[in-house]
Amino acid sequence: MVTVTRFLLFTTTLLSPASAYRRHGKPTTQGIKWLEPERSVLVRLETPDLPLWNPQTRVGEDVPTALILNFTFTRDNRVLLLNDQPILPIKNGNVPPSLSAPQTLSGFEQRTPDFYDLSWFELDYYRGVPLSEDPNSRYNIWSPTLNIDILGAGIEGYNTLLQNDTQRYVRVAVDEIPPYQKYPYEKTISKRRYKIKDVTLEDRFPYQQFAAPDALKECRIWSWLCDDIPDFPYYHYVYRQSFDEYGKIGSLRHELHQRWGTLCERLGMWRVVLLLVVVGNMVLTPVFYGVYKCLRRLRSLHTRREVRYELLTAEETEDLLREYNQDREDEFTMDRLMTGLFTRDRPTVRTEVANDALKGKPLPPLPTESTESSSRGS
Ligand SMILES: *[C@@H]1O[C@H](CO)[C@@H](O)[C@H](O)[C@H]1NC(C)=O
Ligand SMILES: *[C@@H]1O[C@H](CO)[C@@H](O)[C@H](O)[C@H]1NC(C)=O
Repeated sequence: MVTVTRFLLFTTTLLSPASAYRRHGKPTTQGIKWLEPERSVLVRLETPDLPLWNPQTRVGEDVPTALILNFTFTRDNRVLLLNDQPILPIKNGNVPPSLSAPQTLSGFEQRTPDFYDLSWFELDYYRGVPLSEDPNSRYNIWSPTLNIDILGAGIEGYNTLLQNDTQRYVRVAVDEIPPYQKYPYEKTISKRRYKIKDVTLEDRFPYQQFAAPDALKECRIWSWLCDDIPDFPYYHYVYRQSFDEYGKIGSLRHELHQRWGTLCERLGMWRVVLLLVVVGNMVLTPVFYGVYKCLRRLRSLHTRREVRYELLTAEETEDLLREYNQDREDEFTMDRLMTGLFTRDRPTVRTEVANDALKGKPLPPLPTESTESSSRGS
């Protein structure tokens, strides 16, 4: 027994590197049935990991099964549907389409089964379009290729990851229908007409996009979208557990939209708007008041500084003036000394007289002859 297990382990270790050298399988059109040329096609996708759902006993039977994917363009050739869900181009990148597909056991090469009697599985998928598919993109000709890889399927709460690398993915080549637009390319990609050029089932190996949910980048609240790619439509991996009607669960955008959504649901749109206005007022009024106070304080500080500066300069000017006057006075004194005309009293008396006149004081009597003579006499 022990040796057998050892032997088994040995063979598996020998086998696993060998499996890494598996050749890339050629694309196939086996299981593809055209319903209408260039517009509608059914794809039977083998799913080795998905058990056959028995709706009566509600258990999965271990039999290889397949999912049926119906790719059909709308009548106006604008939008490609996958089992009635718009899949290219998509309108809302934030909330990727929810896909589902019926399960089948037999092929439908001979007859098309009535799908609505079958068990419908909800799907997890990888969706990739190599060209930019922003709704506002403007190309001369837009001929994208849509890659759809079904990563998981669930029914009535039972979920299965479809990671077997012999499972294939669907490649739908889409062509624009002429006439093509010319410069200045005013029609966006969502306003033009397309057809299905080609559909193939491609080998997942070795470029396999399969990644289990826990192998993907963790979604944190400080990421706005938790996106796989920075451009529209942001997500490659669409696991049902990671998305709801508000977008990618765990992202900041989702959080805000959900809060807004629940508020609107509970109160109604107009009450929410009213509430926002009131709350906004309550929050913003103190903020504005604070800003106003702050500005005022800043302004007063500024003026005070200016006044101080002016005072300083005034003092300085006074000092300068004083110095200057001193110099002038010294010069003046020197002059007078030199010329011998030093009569200091005269101008002082004069100013005193002038001042007295201004104050309304009577002028002193003019010196008369007698006084002069008497003074001379004395
Ligand atoms: C495929 O899808 C188109 C559009 O969604 C629908 O009209 C058509 O009946 C479907 N075909 C089958 C066989 O289910
Ligand atoms: C994948 O599916 C094939 C059948 O298509 C099966 O033989 C193989 O064992 C499966 N591989 C794994 C890892 O389950």
